[in-house]
Amino acid sequence: MTGNWISRRRLMEIGGGAAAAAVMLSGRAALGQAGGPIVEGQPMPDGVDLPETPPSPGRSDSVGVAVIGLGGFALNQMMPRFDQAKRAHVAGLVSGNPDKLKRVGDAYGVPTKSRYSYDEFDEIASNPDIEAVYIALPSGLHADWTERAFAAGKHVLCEKPMALSSAECERMIAASQRANRKLMIAYRCHFEPYNMKAMELMKQQAAGQLRTIRTEQSYRMGPTSPSENWRVNRALAGGGPLEDYGIYGLQAALYLSGEMPESITAATFRPSGDPRFAEIFAHVASQWRFPSGAVAQLATSYDAANLNAVSARGRTGALLMQPATNYSGNNMVLETGNDRQEFTPGNSTVQFARQIDHFAEAVRDGTPIRTPGEMGLRDLRLIEAIYASADTGRTVMLNPDGTRKS
Ligand SMILES: NC(=O)c1ccc[n+]([C@@H]2O[C@H](COP(=O)([O-])OP(=O)(O)OC[C@H]3O[C@@H](n4cnc5c(N)ncnc54)[C@H](OP(=O)(O)O)[C@@H]3O)[C@@H](O)[C@H]2O)c1
Repeated sequence: MTGNWISRRRLMEIGGGAAAAAVMLSGRAALGQAGGPIVEGQPMPDGVDLPETPPSPGRSDSVGVAVIGLGGFALNQMMPRFDQAKRAHVAGLVSGNPDKLKRVGDAYGVPTKSRYSYDEFDEIASNPDIEAVYIALPSGLHADWTERAFAAGKHVLCEKPMALSSAECERMIAASQRANRKLMIAYRCHFEPYNMKAMELMKQQAAGQLRTIRTEQSYRMGPTSPSENWRVNRALAGGGPLEDYGIYGLQAALYLSGEMPESITAATFRPSGDPRFAEIFAHVASQWRFPSGAVAQLATSYDAANLNAVSARGRTGALLMQPATNYSGNNMVLETGNDRQEFTPGNSTVQFARQIDHFAEAVRDGTPIRTPGEMGLRDLRLIEAIYASADTGRTVMLNPDGTRKS
C-alpha cells in the first residue's frame, strides 16, 4: 500500500483501535438469502503472533471463554491478553476457517472437542468447559450470535458496537434476561488508565465547570469495496466510521460529561463514485447540547488523515487527550492557566486483561458490570439520533434515556 493511504503497519504501530484491521483487503462480506449478513470464514489476518507454548488456565475457578470469530482484533489484541487475566482463559474457539481453527486451537491448547465451526455452534450448549463466549465477529452479526450464545446457556462479552440498531440491542438484553446470563459490551476504555483518570479528573471538575467537548476519530481507509471488506458493507458495518471508530468519541463525550445530550444536530457525507463509500458514510459529524449547558462536537471519518483526539474544556482549564483511546501510547495533559500537568497514570495495555477479569468477576461473583448491554443500547439510540438528524436536516430532541422525543 503506497501513497497517502495509511498503511496497516502504521495503524498497528499507532494502535489505531478499530482502524487497524479496517484496511484489510481480503475478507469478503456475505449476505444471506433473506438479505441479512451471514458468517463466513476468513483467512488468517496479517501479523498474528501465536503463542509458542499454550497458556495455562491459571486458577481453578477461571472462567472458560470461547472466542467467536478469529479475526485481527481477537487474535492480535484480545486473545494474547487472556494470559494476563487472572480469572478467565480461552477454552473454546468458533471459526469458519478450519485451517485457522486448527492452528489457533493448537497454539492456545484448546482441545479438539472445544473447537467449533459456525454450523456446529449450538453443540457448545453441552460443553461444561465453556461458560462464556467473546463475540469478535463483524458488528452486523453481534445480535444474532449473542442470542444464539444465550440460547446455549453461555454468558456473553460482545465487541463494540453492541449491534447496528437499538432494536437489536433490546433483543440482546431480553435474551440475556431470559437466559439469566451476563451481557457485557467490550468498551475497553472503561478499563484503560488514561481514560479512567480522565473520568476522575472531570468528576472532580479539575478543569472547572465543563463547557465544551470535542472528539475526532479519523483515518484514511485504503482502496476497498463492500464485497471485499465488511467495514464498508452496510449490512455488517451500519453507517461506517461512527459505529466503528467514532463510537470512542461518543463514549468519551458521555463519560467525561457525565450527562446525556438533550439535543443532537448532525451531518453525514458520502462521496459519489468512490467504492469505499458505496454503502457507508465517509464522515459523520454531530453537535450535542447537554442539560448543564455544555456542548459537544464529534467528528469521525474514514477519509481524513489520522487523528484520535478528545478534549474537554471547562471554565478554568482543559483536559487534552491525543491519542486518546489507543491500545497503548495514549497522552493526557491538563492545562489550567499557565500550568500544564502531564499525566502518566499507567500502561494502557492493561485495559484488555482488566476488561476480561471484570467480565469474569461478574460471571463468577455476580458483581455489577461497568459496561452492560444497557450502555450499548443507550449508545445505539444516540447513533440513531445522529443519523435521524442528518437525514432530516433537523435537530433531534432526546429523552434522558436517549430515545427521541416525539
Ligand atoms: N475494542 C476494540 O478496540 C476493537 C478493535 C477492532 C475491532 N473491534 C470489533 O471487533 C469486531 C471484529 O473486528 P476485527 O477488526 O477483528 O475484524 P476482522 O479482522 O475482519 O475479523 C472478523 C472475523 O469474523 C469472522 N467472520 C464471520 N463472518 C464474517 C463475514 N461475513 N465477514 C467477515 N468476517 C467474518 C472471521 O473469523 P473466522 O475466519 O474465524 O470465521 C473474521 O476473521 C468488530 O465488531 C469490531 O468493531 C473492536
